[in-house]
Amino acid sequence: MTIQQLKAKFIEKYGEGDIHGYFSPGRVNLIGEHTDYNGGFVFPCALSFGIYCLVRMTDRKTVRFASENLGFEAEVGIEELSKPIGKEWVNYPIGVFAQFLKKGLAFEKGADLFFYGDVPTGAGLSSSAALEVATAVLINEEYGFGLDRIELALMAQKAEHEFALVNCGIMDQFVSAMGKKDHAVFLNCDTLSYDLVPVILDGVKIVISNTNSPHKLDSGKYNERVAECQAAVKAIQPFQSISALGEISWADFLKVEAKIEDSTVRRRARHVVSEIQRTTDAVTALKAGDLEKFGVLMNGSHDSLRDDYEVTGLELDTMVEEGRKITGVIGTRMTGGGFGGCTVSLVKDEAVDIFVSQVGANYEKRTGLKPLFYVAEIGDGGKRLF
Ligand code: GLA
Repeated sequence: MTIQQLKAKFIEKYGEGDIHGYFSPGRVNLIGEHTDYNGGFVFPCALSFGIYCLVRMTDRKTVRFASENLGFEAEVGIEELSKPIGKEWVNYPIGVFAQFLKKGLAFEKGADLFFYGDVPTGAGLSSSAALEVATAVLINEEYGFGLDRIELALMAQKAEHEFALVNCGIMDQFVSAMGKKDHAVFLNCDTLSYDLVPVILDGVKIVISNTNSPHKLDSGKYNERVAECQAAVKAIQPFQSISALGEISWADFLKVEAKIEDSTVRRRARHVVSEIQRTTDAVTALKAGDLEKFGVLMNGSHDSLRDDYEVTGLELDTMVEEGRKITGVIGTRMTGGGFGGCTVSLVKDEAVDIFVSQVGANYEKRTGLKPLFYVAEIGDGGKRLF
């Protein structure tokens, strides 16, 4: 859908006016999975697809929410934007409005909002973060609140905690707000200091494979992992004073690992601490132009998420197994929260077509699901379009 078509849809729905447009991207994480809520490192990039939102400010005392592809519509009073509405998608943007109210920033005017997304929903590419960040950037600009980008990302994350009840880390909202074209964001999730690293892939593409098995992040499994990591911190504390798994090095972890009694908790911690090490190693490798090493670390990440963190499952594992059979695949792993969703692979240019056809056919044969493939383009973070 073009911007002109989207504008026409807006006018059809709400009528003419001074219409502005915003966009915020989904993301693919190259490496550093389930490390963000442990104060570790992540290395995601913003995608060229995401969520668009068109807006027109009004003199009514309500905000109207509608969408091209999400069905449900709502009209909420400007002082009522602090409570969820059932289980509908509008809770994501409402959750963001609520964060402004919580800061004591009141809305003097109403607004008409119209959303459209070209990021697949439920695929683990952060459509919800894109929706939240698009809303946050829009509110900030249209109401002239002047908050900075990182604060907006943190507010978007809070909206997810409070309105979607997922205790997510900061990765998705941060990269959706702060991403940069052709760069990945090497983010320290403890301090929020970050480095924009150019992703120069000579003769190599980033291929995203959608298992079409929706990731079930709100199923409670995600929050269960968050709780297991907290249990791991408690189990380590008698031996080393830490407040998050991100504070212990891999070498020190090996000294205390056997002291963690619960074997599940032990394996969860092993994943997180090793993944943090892999992430810093991967960034060093990328900066040195060593893609082969980067690929080996991606593979290690998937195996750890499969064996120790147990967030992969049949579809993601099958996609990765089939990908690894193709000559020209440098590395392949699940990306995002897991339990379905997408994999990310580095594939040599000449192998991309074979990858799509063979992995596609074999995956479908083995799972009965039709996958989708996208060659990722790394785009910018959330912004006003017009
Ligand atoms: C989801 C969460 C993120 C992060 C990833 C796993 O995408 O929203 O905060 O924890 O899972 O790395």
